[in-house]
Formats: sequence, C-alpha cells, structure tokens
Amino acid sequence: MSIPPAFRQALIEAAQRFPTPFYAYDWPTIQARLERLRKAFPKAEVFYALKANPRLGLLRRFRAQGLGMEAVSLGEVYRAYRAGFPPAQVLLNGPLKTPSLLETLRRWGIPILGLDSLPEVRRVGQALPGAQVLLRVNPDLPVTTHHHLATGQGESKFGLLPEDLEAALLEARRGGLEVLGLHLHLGSALERPEDFAAGYALMDGLYRSYGPFAVMNLGGGFGLGLALEALGPAATALARKHGARLWLEPGRYLVAEAGVLVARCYGVKRTRRSYLLIDAGMSQFLRPMLYGAAHPVEPLYESPRRGVYDLAGPACEAGDVLARDVALPEPREGDLLAILLAGAYGSSMSSNYLDTPRPLELLWTGEELEVLRQPQSLEALLAEEG
Ligand code: LLP
Repeated sequence: MSIPPAFRQALIEAAQRFPTPFYAYDWPTIQARLERLRKAFPKAEVFYALKANPRLGLLRRFRAQGLGMEAVSLGEVYRAYRAGFPPAQVLLNGPLKTPSLLETLRRWGIPILGLDSLPEVRRVGQALPGAQVLLRVNPDLPVTTHHHLATGQGESKFGLLPEDLEAALLEARRGGLEVLGLHLHLGSALERPEDFAAGYALMDGLYRSYGPFAVMNLGGGFGLGLALEALGPAATALARKHGARLWLEPGRYLVAEAGVLVARCYGVKRTRRSYLLIDAGMSQFLRPMLYGAAHPVEPLYESPRRGVYDLAGPACEAGDVLARDVALPEPREGDLLAILLAGAYGSSMSSNYLDTPRPLELLWTGEELEVLRQPQSLEALLAEEG
C-alpha cells in the first residue's frame, strides 16, 4: 500500500502552506471504495456510519452520491441534518436514546430509529408513536477482531437476544411503532467472510420466524482486507428471498484507506530505544494506543541512510507511541511522515487532551485541496470556560 502520487504531491505542498500535524483525505480513493461496495452489493441502500469520519464536507459529498447516514448520537443527527440529509435518510442507532433526545428529535424531524433494548422500545413508543424503527438483534455470535470491536457476542451490551425479539416486536406494535425490519451489526474491522455468513444465516431464520419485513439491515463492520465480492451475492439473495430492501452501514471501509495523518519529524532521541520525535500523538490519533492498531508509515522524504525507530508523540505519557520498530530513511529535522489508513476513526476519536487543539483537515479532490476543518485555535479551546 502506498499513497497515490498526486495525493502525495498535494500533501507535500500542503505542509508548506499549513501547520502540521494535519489529516488529509483522498477523494478519488473514497470514490473507488464506494464503487467497489456498490459493485458487490448492487441493490443495497448505503447508510454511511458517520462516526468513522464526520466532516461536513465529506458528508455533503456522500449526499451527492446518494448515500444515507447512520448516526449514533444527537450530535451526529444534528450533523447529518446540517449536511442536508432529510430525516428519512438518517438512521439513528446506539444503545441509549433518552427522553430529552427523543423530545429534541420530535422538534427537528424524526429519523429512522434503531432500537436496542426492551425499555427503549417502550420509551420510544410512548414518546414518538408512529416512528419508523428497526430492532437490533444481538446475534450471540463470536467474531474474529479486537475485543473492543466485537459487538455481536451474547455478552456485549448491544441489541436484543433472539429469544427476546418476539416480546420486543409485540411491544413495538403495541406502542404504534412502524417496524421496518431487523438490524444486525456483528462488530468492526471484520476480515473473515465466515463471520458474516453465520450472521446472515441467523437473519434468515429470524426473518422466517418473524417476517415479512420491508427492510433487512446487515450493518457495517467490513474490514479493509475483506473480499466484499464474497459477501455481496449472499446478502443480496437473502434480502431478495425475504422480499426486503437491503441496507448496509459501512464506515471504515469507505474512508480509512483514503486518509493520512501528516506529522513532522524533530530528530532522533536515544534512550534504550531509538525514538523519532514527531508532532502527532495520542491527542490526534488514538487507535494505536487503544486497540494496539498497527498503522503503516510512509516517509515523504528521502535519505541514503536508514534506521529503525519508534514514533514518539509529544504527550507526557509513556504510551504515546504511534508505531514501533518502523524502518525509515534517516530523517532530517522538518521532514514529513504520513501515517496511513487514518481516514476512519482518526480525527473522530481525537481529543483535546493536554490542551491540544484539533488539527487541520484537508480533502484532496483529485484537482485541488479543500479545507474540511480549520485547525482549532487556543482561544476556541477555552471558549466554553468564560
Ligand atoms: N453500524 C453500527 C451499529 C456500528 O456500531 C458501527 C461501528 C458501524 C455500523 C460502522 O462500523 P465499520 O463499518 O466502520 O466497522 N473506534 C473503532 C471502531 C468502532 C466502531 C463502532 N461501531 C476503531 O477505531 O476501530
């Protein structure tokens, strides 16, 4: 894997105009991923999981491509509406929808609601009778991924166990909710088609027992190396068999590969290891620390000599290391590095820890650089404190 040449050139130019670190995304790569998804699932309606990368400029582009949005909080619904999506193209999932959230939605326009538990079915029936809903199934299936990313195990907090579905359906209908269908999301960063096959088999049984429904939502979770072509026909046939529209909720698959985090190098420091000091760390990019995620690193400079380094961020935490044992050309002060596969859950999980302002975010359209988000100012950081 490497950065497309035009995008790489754009990154180098951007670093002359803008402060580092910054995120940048390659729109042609996102489009290629979307095309591949649509080829594998030609009939599916796609609700982009905006938690993966919520920049408004990106969401507006997805709207122009005919996608809907999958949200999991009031803030994400607000964002989707601000990006111009009508309520009927927004799906709100997540394990808790409080009365005040439901009241706010009544004023703003009610999205399609993914319901996660029996108390929630009751609450939504009382607050928003007539709402269109899906019921999330807890399939009680093991999947192969990091344990923080497995959501479909019986012990996870998500969804209704198959044996509780009947009661939930009754309750939903009693509450006057319009049940569009069932929702399955097995987990994230899944690389094995077998995991999906097991989930699809479970949905087949549930639709046979409780169907028909208008919609079958098979969720997201596609890992970057997953052969979608191996899943698409089975998912399409399954939905067709039950006369349901097929919905999907991919996040990572569409945007991860397109994104890089660009950081500047500030010399090598030797303790018992060799640390390359860079200006990005856990405040900007948490995945290596939280999930032990290994993100490839590409130098945007050349040098005849090579070394092996751990990439140390600026935070005063021993865990603030973005990657270990990275073989790189020996950097001079000011040279640039790109951390790859950072387009999903990078910026969206960044924080203001250590009063670190949120970084700049750019989109390379294929022709020019667009600013998706200005770097946060120190003033803005303190603004809510008076
Ligand atoms: N649908 C539901 C109900 C979800 O909970 C998620 C992700 C998605 C769709 C999209 O999943 P994707 O296609 O992106 O795998 N912060 C973690 C990922 C957490 C995913 C949470 N739910 C990471 O950095 O890997």
